[in-house]
Amino acid sequence: MARLGVLVSGNGSNLQALIDASRAGTISGQIAVVISNRKDAFALRRAEQAGIESLCITHGAFSSREEFDAKVVEELRSRDVDWVVFAGFMRLVTPVLLDAYRHRIVNLHPSLLPAFPGVDAAKQALEYGVKLTGCTVHIVTPEMDSGPIIAQAAVPVLDSDDEQTLLERIHAVEHETLVGAVAALCDGRVQVNDATPPARAKVFVRAR
Ligand code: GRF
Repeated sequence: MARLGVLVSGNGSNLQALIDASRAGTISGQIAVVISNRKDAFALRRAEQAGIESLCITHGAFSSREEFDAKVVEELRSRDVDWVVFAGFMRLVTPVLLDAYRHRIVNLHPSLLPAFPGVDAAKQALEYGVKLTGCTVHIVTPEMDSGPIIAQAAVPVLDSDDEQTLLERIHAVEHETLVGAVAALCDGRVQVNDATPPARAKVFVRAR
């Protein structure tokens, strides 16, 4: 069974979706460790309540991003983690982590990438006036919020939306999109082809 390392910074509703899916057998993976870079992250409490090992690695304690990433790699490797999931992990990473887990790190972003990368994706969508937005799960590469796309889901943007209501609608589809993507990873159904840039991910449907 695949071993997952989940990196978080906040509430952890997506972590919760992974915990529930792992328990229900929807994904053939087990969460080996949850790592937060913030000690006040509610996600740490969710891990604790689920009996999953959790660590807080405060980035302020390191003098560079590379040193922080090296510590994260050490903790992931010592638990034989196969796949790393950024589930609301609000931190830029360096080649130290990317090379250690090449094409084995996925991120969840609250827009239909490549539209609206970076922070405040829902606000950006509202300001632009798009009528559809959504969420994306992609393989993490050195450029922020890019990399081969594994799964996406769309939601409408309503005239009455503010950032809060739009984010809630996006959150509602994030959970199942992330679980579907992680299920595919754990089953070995994701293939990344980087022979000719840009790299693309192919996701094979589960055999029935
Ligand atoms: C999600 O909206 C995700 O797209 C973004 O951070 C948020 C995390 O939410 N990267 P939660 O902590 O999983 O509730």
